Amino acid sequence: MTKPSETLWEIEPHTSAKHEILRRYLGAWFPILGSKIPRIVYIDGFCGPGRYLGGEEGSPIIALQEARKQPILAGSEVSFLFIDEREDRIKHLESELSLLNIPSNFHIDTRVNEFEDTLTKLLDDLEKRGAHLAPTFAFIDPFGFKGTPFSLIKRLMANSRTEVFINIMVDYVNRFVEHPLPVDRKHIKDLLGASDDEIEDVVNSQDRILAFRQLYQGKLLKHAKFVRYFEMRDDRNKVIYYLFFASNHPLGHKKMKEAFWKVDSQSGFKFSDCTDPNQPVLFELDPSIDLAKVLKTQFSGLTQNSEDVITFIEDKTPYIETHARKALIHLENGKEISIEQIKADGAKRRRGTFPTGVIIHF
Ligand SMILES: C[S@@+](CC[C@H](N)C(=O)[O-])C[C@H]1O[C@@H](n2cnc3c(N)ncnc32)[C@H](O)[C@@H]1O
Repeated sequence: MTKPSETLWEIEPHTSAKHEILRRYLGAWFPILGSKIPRIVYIDGFCGPGRYLGGEEGSPIIALQEARKQPILAGSEVSFLFIDEREDRIKHLESELSLLNIPSNFHIDTRVNEFEDTLTKLLDDLEKRGAHLAPTFAFIDPFGFKGTPFSLIKRLMANSRTEVFINIMVDYVNRFVEHPLPVDRKHIKDLLGASDDEIEDVVNSQDRILAFRQLYQGKLLKHAKFVRYFEMRDDRNKVIYYLFFASNHPLGHKKMKEAFWKVDSQSGFKFSDCTDPNQPVLFELDPSIDLAKVLKTQFSGLTQNSEDVITFIEDKTPYIETHARKALIHLENGKEISIEQIKADGAKRRRGTFPTGVIIHF
């Protein structure tokens, strides 16, 4: 992946996949927050020009379009902060914004500056005033590994109602981690919030890409209850980056997993530019079969309420509700679980359903 120097550039398939995840997630996030919160903030820290060479929408326009679709936001103040260090790209974005009909309760702030500097000042200023960031979704989508230190992500996540969706360009990280220039190694250390020893462990590991992913995942998990990642590969099927989502909200987590599965119905966590969309899939995978195995291992020998099993699936696994029901059906049909036919409320359970109050013996 090369870093474009022009104002606009050609979109690549993995970028479209990233946008599809963003679009679907925001289509859920705006109404969830808008229904209960009077002020919400959307930050796009590396926003780009708002459009690609072929006319495709860029991330700031996608966010605005999703927000504009939600009538429920009419009662909220929605602040959009779009940051890019390049003036030409912000100018282009502003020209795109001028073509949109923006509701009066949407406040748009565009800044030509570095993300790190802008965010640090914003958080410092709030801190000085003893104020807090309103519930925020921060999309952080740089080209390389500079300017997104983990210390800043940590500060953002200190507010429990903030969610972060960050692109970690693990291929660049891997290529520069042993670079002779100490400044590059320092950026990588900052990005990952890692010690020299932790970096050395990754460098010496068998699979560095996996080790970088696990290192960052572990760091995020110290500051967020829910962390998920989505893997992007290039046209040679090489991993280029991970999109990490960090949140403290079960519903946000659930919605992001649903967005991931819409983009990858086979495994829910990856996209490759080398996949031919016209090539039929030879063997359709059924994720619920894998989930059935996970449930057997997790609950072996135990008796559980159906709602506890569903909460486990939603909060602790990458799977979603549709897989849950199918996995339990597989287990019931294979006589690997037995289910009490009378629910806690005395009503009879219908086969193939797992409503609240159903008792399952694993
Ligand atoms: C991957 S592109 C963003 C694409 C955009 N998020 C989208 O999906 O349409 C990264 C952008 O970050 C900008 N950029 C690079 N370094 C930056 C920094 N330190 N702070 C803010 N913007 C930066 C670049 O000019 C570029 O427009």
